[in-house]
Amino acid sequence: MPHIDRADIQGNVVRGYRFPVARHFFIRMGDATSGRRWLRDTVDFVTNAELWDEKPGWALNIAFTHAGLRAVGVQPQSLDSFPAEFQQGMRARAQMLGDTGGSSPAHWESHFRDGDIHVMATLNASAPDRLAERCDWFERILAGTETLQIVGRQDAARLAESREHFGYVDGLSQPLVAGDGMPTRRGQGVKEGSGWRALRAGEFLLGHHDETGQMPLAPQPTALAQNGTYLVYRKLHQDVALFRRFLADRARAYAGAEEKLAAALMGRWRDGTPIERSPDAADPSLGFDLQRNNDFTYGEDLDGFRCPVGAHIRRANPRDAIGFRHKMVHRHRLIRRGMPYGNPLSPGSDDDGVDRGLIFVCLGASIQRQFEFVQTQWMNDGNIFALGADKDVLAGDNDGTGKMTVQGRPPWFVAAVPRLVTTKGGDYFFLPGIRALRRISGELQPP
Ligand code: HEM
Repeated sequence: MPHIDRADIQGNVVRGYRFPVARHFFIRMGDATSGRRWLRDTVDFVTNAELWDEKPGWALNIAFTHAGLRAVGVQPQSLDSFPAEFQQGMRARAQMLGDTGGSSPAHWESHFRDGDIHVMATLNASAPDRLAERCDWFERILAGTETLQIVGRQDAARLAESREHFGYVDGLSQPLVAGDGMPTRRGQGVKEGSGWRALRAGEFLLGHHDETGQMPLAPQPTALAQNGTYLVYRKLHQDVALFRRFLADRARAYAGAEEKLAAALMGRWRDGTPIERSPDAADPSLGFDLQRNNDFTYGEDLDGFRCPVGAHIRRANPRDAIGFRHKMVHRHRLIRRGMPYGNPLSPGSDDDGVDRGLIFVCLGASIQRQFEFVQTQWMNDGNIFALGADKDVLAGDNDGTGKMTVQGRPPWFVAAVPRLVTTKGGDYFFLPGIRALRRISGELQPP
């Protein structure tokens, strides 16, 4: 298996940084000349995917919207060669994504709503003071350009024990990328016989073979696409007080009570134990064991009696439960790099009005086949799973009228699922390889 060219891939794509804090800057470029000059000055500081002897204090990465590529002077024939969904951007896809009602673009934060964003620059850091220091440096450089304007900022930070705001440990399951050189962990790639193999790099990186054995469709020229990927950014507000009330209320008549119902919604106990492996109780020795906490499939549980068919992780990655022989599931995997934002709601508190949630970030070679498919077919609909109109309780576009089915004899229905997660904004970005960044900046022959 050829190794991937780490020096040419931006960091945090094939392997996660796992820094505790981050800030996203959303930037608008006044003109192409100063945009390219800024990029030339900045590209040497962009973090690539090379392995670290010692973890650095911070990392910087840069991604463009389609409007951003145009603003920085990428040629029209090249701009036209990008896939339609990227050209249109997330706002134009809102209806299809289920971003309606309170999640519709009319309610998004202004920089997402008004389509002002050209660039997203993300600084990750090892501690809040390191982040503050680097952000000052970054803002000083931008201020020096006069024509590049910061139109939005977003902080994100890990919570204790890597939990997200509803209280579950997050960041446990990621696809393993071929050529990364990481030892295969059971459950993190594609099951083959009794073992597991990594997914082909082309599922996540342009210019590499994907699971069909083909090169993914990529924009032209090849030099612009090589080692690039698409990044989906969504600011997802979580209504934690409503989630707690909902859980307590629906669990009242549920055999096994609140924590068991919480586990059924997710497919994992809150500590990360997969219920497919441990359906009756959390098992801390399993939850935190990286070799075992993903080592499961659903093929022996097609009825969903151990893990409900509509549980969040089973919908998001049905493993061998649907289309396995046709590799259907492998074509819809996502690398997730999100982080929570906002302070946690203390236990027992009622709604405090604070904005909190998940900065959902995912990466893949096709926004349409990966993120949009998972959101629309697996989160917002139950048809593929023979669940009718059931939606994912956490990430589906619920409106208070739908249900979740917990299979069993008899089955249990979680009624009137409210919208627990609201979209506050987001966009589609192209995260170029390092050489492509230099080309865009004009330092190498431009695209
Ligand atoms: C606020 C909204 C969300 C919350 C709180 C949330 C939370 C979680 C948690 C706790 C896990 C289990 C830990 C793990 O396996 O890494 C998980 C897994 C996952 N989530 Fe979400 N999630 C949210 C939205 C989404 C959305 C919108 C998508 C895709 C469109 C998604 C896709 C996935 C995937 C692919 C997995 C891994 C499944 C596996 O491989 O077993 N999530 N999520």
